[in-house]
This record gives sequence, C-alpha cells and structure tokens, in this order.
Amino acid sequence: MQKILMVCLGNICRSPLAEGILQSKVNSNIVSVDSAGTAAYHIGKLPDGRSIEVAQKHGIDITKQRARKFVVKDFDEFDIIFAMDDSNYQNILSLARNNTDEQKVRMILNETHPTKNLSVPDPYYGGNEGFENVYKMLDEACDIIADNLS
Ligand code: 4NP
Repeated sequence: MQKILMVCLGNICRSPLAEGILQSKVNSNIVSVDSAGTAAYHIGKLPDGRSIEVAQKHGIDITKQRARKFVVKDFDEFDIIFAMDDSNYQNILSLARNNTDEQKVRMILNETHPTKNLSVPDPYYGGNEGFENVYKMLDEACDIIADNLS
C-alpha cells in the first residue's frame, strides 16, 4: 500500500480537494490518501462549503472528511507528503526529524511544473472562481501522481 498525505494550512479548502481528487483516480487497494492542515483552527470540521460544492460539481464527494492537524507521526505513516504551498512546505519541513522525513515532502505543483516550486493559491478569502481554479490545478497534478503510482 502506498500512502499519500495532502497538506495545506486549514485542511478545509485545498488539501481536502487534493485528497478527494487523487482518491478518485487510484485503486484504493493499492493507494490510500489522507489530508491534514499545519494549523489547528478547523480541527474536526467539514471541508469548506465551496470545496464541497466544486468537488460535487466534478462528481466527487468530500463530505466524509473532517479536518485534522499534521503531526510528526505522519512522517512514519506516509510515503509521500504533498504540500499545497510554500508556507505549508516550510512548516512541515520544520517538523522533520531526519533526512528520511525531509525526503518525503514535495510541493504538489512540481508534478505539473517541475522544479518551479509554485504554490496552490489559498482560496479561503476569495470567491467561487478561486475554488474552480484550485480544482483544475489539483486535478492536473493528481493525474500525474496517479499515473506514477500505478
Ligand atoms: P486551506 O485554506 O489551507 O486550503 O484549508 C484555509 C482555510 C482556513 C484559513 C486559511 C486558509 N484560515 O485562516 O482560517
């Protein structure tokens, strides 16, 4: 089993979408996907309604998800940890205990734009277009991730 973790700040907008999208593209007997946030603000909450809506529009149900915080033990649990943005990336790396932990952490948009270290924009304070834009970026990245995992 390959275990993939998607990480953003609140675990209510971007990483729940990334989790749902990748899950929809892989065989669940071979790949498991989870998500977490680097901040504790929204622990236990459902994804943001705008993420739920854009996912639903594309046939993906993310309403079973609940927000949780990233913990150091996630380095032991997961094979690859995808950060949505630069600040998530730095926050995760700051918790790494060794080189093995560090090497698990990647910027998700490097899948579509190798070595550019681009960030998935935080859509929290914007409108619905922001969520559609994030969906598209994550969908393209997850196509590549899924291909590489199968
Ligand atoms: P996310 O978006 O990191 O994609 O889940 C955010 C959600 C909540 C906040 C910021 C970003 N917030 O400040 O509460």
